[in-house]
Amino acid sequence: MNPELELGNKADAAYRQAERKAAEYFAVLQEQLGQKKFASVLTGDFQLWKQQHMRGWPWHAWRAKKRKQAAAADGYGYIHWLDHTGKLDEYLDRSIAYVYMRDLGKPIEELETQARIQRAAASLKRYLLKDAPTSRGGQPEWISAAGLYRWGQQEGVETAVIWVLDKLRNVSAHLPKELDAEQAQRKLIKIVVGVVLHVMEELDKEGSPAAERASRLDEAIRLGYAYGLTYPFIDDLLDSAALSAEEKSCYSRMIRTALLTRTVPKLGEWPGNTLDGFAFIHAELREAFEYVKSRQVPESADAFFGQAYVFFHAQELDRAKDAANPSYTNEQIYLPIILKSASSRLIARTITGAPIDEDFNRRTFFYGIYNQLADDFADMFDDERAGAVTPYTYYMRYRDQRQDLINPFELYWTVVAYLIHHVYSSDAKAREVILDRAINGLKRCRERVGKEKYQWIMDTFAAGSPSFAALIQRLVQKADNVDFFDKRLRDQLLDMLRAEREEREAFFKMIRTVRQQINDTLPIAKAEDMSAVKAKLVDAANYSLEGAGKRLRPILSWAMGVQEYGLEASALMPLLRSLEYMHTASLIFDDLPTQDNASTRRGRPTLHEWHDSATAELAGLFLIQRAIREQASLEQFEASSVLAVIRYAARTAEELCTGQAMDLASKGKMLTLEQLNRLCFYKTGIAFEAALVMPAMLAQVPEPEISRLKTFAYHAGIAFQIKDDLLDAEGDGDVLGKPVGQDAANNNATFVSILGQEEARKQLWEHYCLAMETLQAMERQPVFLKHLLHYIVSRDR
Ligand code: IPE
Ligand code: IPE
Ligand code: MG
Ligand code: MG
Ligand code: MG
Repeated sequence: MNPELELGNKADAAYRQAERKAAEYFAVLQEQLGQKKFASVLTGDFQLWKQQHMRGWPWHAWRAKKRKQAAAADGYGYIHWLDHTGKLDEYLDRSIAYVYMRDLGKPIEELETQARIQRAAASLKRYLLKDAPTSRGGQPEWISAAGLYRWGQQEGVETAVIWVLDKLRNVSAHLPKELDAEQAQRKLIKIVVGVVLHVMEELDKEGSPAAERASRLDEAIRLGYAYGLTYPFIDDLLDSAALSAEEKSCYSRMIRTALLTRTVPKLGEWPGNTLDGFAFIHAELREAFEYVKSRQVPESADAFFGQAYVFFHAQELDRAKDAANPSYTNEQIYLPIILKSASSRLIARTITGAPIDEDFNRRTFFYGIYNQLADDFADMFDDERAGAVTPYTYYMRYRDQRQDLINPFELYWTVVAYLIHHVYSSDAKAREVILDRAINGLKRCRERVGKEKYQWIMDTFAAGSPSFAALIQRLVQKADNVDFFDKRLRDQLLDMLRAEREEREAFFKMIRTVRQQINDTLPIAKAEDMSAVKAKLVDAANYSLEGAGKRLRPILSWAMGVQEYGLEASALMPLLRSLEYMHTASLIFDDLPTQDNASTRRGRPTLHEWHDSATAELAGLFLIQRAIREQASLEQFEASSVLAVIRYAARTAEELCTGQAMDLASKGKMLTLEQLNRLCFYKTGIAFEAALVMPAMLAQVPEPEISRLKTFAYHAGIAFQIKDDLLDAEGDGDVLGKPVGQDAANNNATFVSILGQEEARKQLWEHYCLAMETLQAMERQPVFLKHLLHYIVSRDR
């Protein structure tokens, strides 16, 4: 027999076995549902639960709600408000407890788990309250790239953090436009966090030494990414309109083959014309697959590939359902759901190679459908619009003609009762957390869809048990203290990702527009009566100016001057020209045979190659003089400010010369980190400082603010130079427009030559964080500067 066929038969047999287990569970649930046991059982549970959640008089509750809404408007405020009203401990405790149940599959009823939850909640509390509340509602540190990197430093996993941040950016850049890039990023982040938490749990249990801990966490981050990738690149993609039906079936076959043979098939004959976009997805998934495979030991590999196949196959069965088909049995609807929701969570632990834990498997198996039903409840209208078959959409459509059809809302409560009493042995904590979550889910739904639609949902799904329905209604309206940190995090993360995307688009649009304006104003005019000798010099200067320079320094000045300080753009033009003239002159000198001896610059031959060194030197000097002439033409500003600007610019140029001299004197030498920083600040950072400080001087910004701008520029400038050093080692010369490998050829002392690429990248991120932290402490926090920093670390030219 064909070996793949044989493997397929084996896998299908394993799937059927899993299905039998799911069918047993489903039969138990059905039996309980038939007797509507959930209503009486949960009514009792809710009576106990209520004591903690229906405190205070109605007016008190109303006022508290208003205050909470106001505080909730910003991330910091809410946490501090909870702390202030004495609710923070409960809030964190329930949130962490939930994660321990859902994500980590822990026995919540055991004292050891409860002690761990308390410890985790206490340390999260310390972390959250570490920063003073800001009235500006700034973005909480813990969901920023800088916050993540700082965590990575504490754990010694900087390299993996940098790696995953790059990957995340890359994924959203390559995601087909039919998919929601922010949702994709959010899911990926969630999976990475989930896998990391599993490993942290194991590590805490074992009490591993720091180096071992770091290497296991490094691996967890990469495994999490590898697994997380399947959400956007497999599930969402197969659900989306990005691929044709033919492409989807080809893609499904490839995934199936990969899971069966444990080898990713080549791209081969890809139908349709989406090959370019798909090639990236294929390559990225293959890399991920190989990584996961390389980390498995034989036992975990079998468990992992087995669960992965069940997950994938259950999804396929689900996806193949047609909403127009009226005759799916309850088993056809629910068994794939039990299987996919359980296996997706089982994988998050199995993938780490953790020892097999039957209790974890059992709890997780029972738990999955609870989550899935809650999610499908929340998404029912979206799913209906998309034509997807879920228990809710199917029931909505066929409930009148199919009396046998299970009501998913009743099944949901049945699962809730089953979990509390059978899986967690009627434990008080389990009851507390699961019911909190249930009421919270309904509250959120009511807020999102509005009262009317919510009422419709209740009339449709809760009609079968009126007194239980009435109890739920009352609790949804009146109960308090059911919020969850992970939900909040999810919302904030999505908001943040969306806002950042919009800001980023605005940033690049602005850069393109301003760059064009600057390009138009740079060429030096030639007077008609100009001598031929001078005209040749002007041509030489213009030649260097015309190349594909990024114009970052004048753009930075424009953003600060015009956007932040409200200066007149036309009045500022001479300053922008002077910055670019100075910078271009520095490049002409830097490229000379006596310095870096470079043959290309800005995508064309260097000036000394095109003419000769003498012309290059003279054109450089010419540009510097022209820059001063421009500065002295800043006529619309106060004379004293202009004089201060000129004085400052001259000193800056001196320091830049010093920086270049240090650079040349360091060839072949070992420098300390401190010396490297100083060198880079003088040769590069100082020009960024000038671009920030000069418009501030013209706008007569007070000294303390200028001094903070200098600190920001110090770190941003050094980061820029480290990235330049990295690009010299690993960039693409065609994209850069200048030669690569020049530093190594010249034996230059750079971050890369002295520290190596990995350490240089860490220093890049260290300065990124320091600049970002400086920015966050600033009175005004120009969005432009934040995105400039992102750009500096991620640019490829
Ligand atoms: C290159 O600067 C010189 C350094 C300070 C590393 P840029 O990378 O800004 O060069 P252009 O202006 O875009 O050509
Ligand atoms: C140059 O640094 C800094 C200045 C021009 C002042 P590099 O020598 O690394 O710049 P590139 O790589 O040639 O652009
Ligand atoms: Mg140089
Ligand atoms: Mg150079
Ligand atoms: Mg360089």
